[in-house]
Amino acid sequence: MVKNKQSIGVFDSGYGGLTVFKSIARKLPQYNYIYLGDNARTPYGDHSFETIYQYTLECVEWLFAQGCPLVILACNTASAKALRSIQQNILPFKYPDRRVLGVIRPTAEIVGNYTHKKSVGVMGTRGTVNSESYLMEINKFFPEIKVAQQSCPMWVPLIENDEHRNPGADYFVKKYLDELLAKDDEIDCIVLACTHYPLLVPKIKEMLPPDINLLAQDDIVADSLALYLENHPEIESRISKEGHQQFFTSGDPRVFDINASTFFDNEVVSSRVDLIHH
Ligand code: DGL
Repeated sequence: MVKNKQSIGVFDSGYGGLTVFKSIARKLPQYNYIYLGDNARTPYGDHSFETIYQYTLECVEWLFAQGCPLVILACNTASAKALRSIQQNILPFKYPDRRVLGVIRPTAEIVGNYTHKKSVGVMGTRGTVNSESYLMEINKFFPEIKVAQQSCPMWVPLIENDEHRNPGADYFVKKYLDELLAKDDEIDCIVLACTHYPLLVPKIKEMLPPDINLLAQDDIVADSLALYLENHPEIESRISKEGHQQFFTSGDPRVFDINASTFFDNEVVSSRVDLIHH
């Protein structure tokens, strides 16, 4: 652990947030980062609100304890189920000088640029879909846009188990796409509202009509973080700028390092963190 350094914390339930971190690190390589994957308890998608909130808060507090003034929840499920409560009920009282940002708002803010027919499909975990966070956020920015949602509970397990490139994955990719498109035949933009899903893009594209825009969040979140740091010099000035990247997992670091290479460009060397006894 690099002591007395302040890093941007990036959190996901597992590997998915690495797709976002990859774009962030490419766009903003100068900052120090700590990535935390809660692999021991992934996937979060089917857990209850209380469980997701508790797990996410533990991870955020661990990142705070490492000195992160800013944490990005690079996970839609955590953003949908825990972000608002942490921002409203925890930060002002316990950590008034820290910030936590999610991935839903930056995505909702720009979705209107990608649909002509004003019909958007959102694909995510059950937790994200049931929270209706995308319906609410997109409605705030683009009340004229219709949103149809599809939960895809098999996609994260396929990706976490490195089965997403194999023919076995075709069945579930097609099933959820067909189910979504049957809900509204005007859909001309699909939001991949889970940070794991960029790994399925090649398969999804094979099965999708070419006139449908596919929106993954990696670059969207990186752009929005760059803008946030520009507009918040009080946070930006606290972050160390040595380009250090550290990786932590609540799971097995050897397994993490092997699987992480699927999600991240560079070699990853992680350390284990015991969140439960922290
Ligand atoms: N990658 C996460 C998301 O964006 C969640 C996956 C999960 O743990 O179910 O929703």
